[in-house]
Amino acid sequence: MIYIKVLVTGGLGYIGSHTCVELLNNGYEVVIVDNLYNSTIDVLQRIEKITGKKVDFYDFDVCSYEAMDTVFSENKIEAVIHFAAYKAVGESVKEPIKYYQNNLLATLNLCKVMLKYNCQRLIFSSSATVYGKVRSLPIKEDAPLSTTNPYGTTKLMNEEILADICKANPNFSVVVLRYFNPIGAHKSGLLGENPKGIPNNLMPYIMRVAANNEREEKEQVAEYKYVKVFGDSYDTLDGTGVRDYIHVVDLARGHLLAMEKCFNSLGIDFYNLGTGKGYSVLDLINTYEKVNNVKVPYKIVAKRDGDIAACYADTNKAFKELGFKALYGIDDMCRDSYLYQKNYIKEHGEIF
Ligand code: UD1
Repeated sequence: MIYIKVLVTGGLGYIGSHTCVELLNNGYEVVIVDNLYNSTIDVLQRIEKITGKKVDFYDFDVCSYEAMDTVFSENKIEAVIHFAAYKAVGESVKEPIKYYQNNLLATLNLCKVMLKYNCQRLIFSSSATVYGKVRSLPIKEDAPLSTTNPYGTTKLMNEEILADICKANPNFSVVVLRYFNPIGAHKSGLLGENPKGIPNNLMPYIMRVAANNEREEKEQVAEYKYVKVFGDSYDTLDGTGVRDYIHVVDLARGHLLAMEKCFNSLGIDFYNLGTGKGYSVLDLINTYEKVNNVKVPYKIVAKRDGDIAACYADTNKAFKELGFKALYGIDDMCRDSYLYQKNYIKEHGEIF
């Protein structure tokens, strides 16, 4: 049996941790580099518990060339999955330098070290945010690209940097994955998404409102009394924003298929990872209530700046060329997020 060693940057994060589990369950060896900026060390033990496998871990910053050189000198890395990045849209508008510095330098350093050690396979974690103001649906990979905030611009610039690196290094192989909206959690209830501070994204907010609602009236927190639904006058079926929610385990599986592609072709290619189906904010709230038998109160408030009406993927290219197809539906996503919520509360006493 030949073991392929994969470096996963940001491997303790939400998508990274689920991807590490899939890699380990499919016979890959995994080395994680994560500086714990937006993750916690217990995730490492959870990955090991779920898979029964050992993971090499470095508490290093990908932006440090010396640190990454150490990782490559101590391991025979054959491929890299690069998740490590800042990802808060609002913060990126307020602190653009922080975002450009971190999200661009990490990739540049990583590629420099990869070239030095002759490691030529990279999967890059991009986002549907690179499609900017969407003009036609479903979104195909060759749709026009633009961005509306510095976070999104770092993703697009990274894609361009990687395309140039591939041009200059014909033996390089890069697969860029553009994620739609990952939600859900691992079926063990041990891995999931619980952001620090008030969540920006819809599902973590729904989870907190549901948990708050299960508390005694006097224990309830004002911030999580209800979900603020950002607008109900979009040109969609119920007027609320429509997105392509994808189960994080499906997304993680997509990385394994991308890995096979990386080993079998050269140059750069781009793939949407979504389900191809759009659900509204109210669909998600109603489904969460129905499948989990909980209450998620909501109020319609003003639109959020920069939001678009609808966004969902054309999944044909990923299906034809990677063999990727999402297996889980919106009910599974809501059920698994709730399982994680319950488990988290059992372990920590509270979720916020
Ligand atoms: C957001 C980011 C996107 C990023 C992605 C990562 C913005 C504008 N976009 O996508 O760049 O790649 O997260 O996960 O932040 N909603 C509410 N109430 C809430 C939160 C959200 O009604 O409290 C609505 C939004 O208007 C949207 C939908 O829920 O229609 C999904 O929002 P969200 O989870 O933040 O994802 P995106 O905005 O699609």
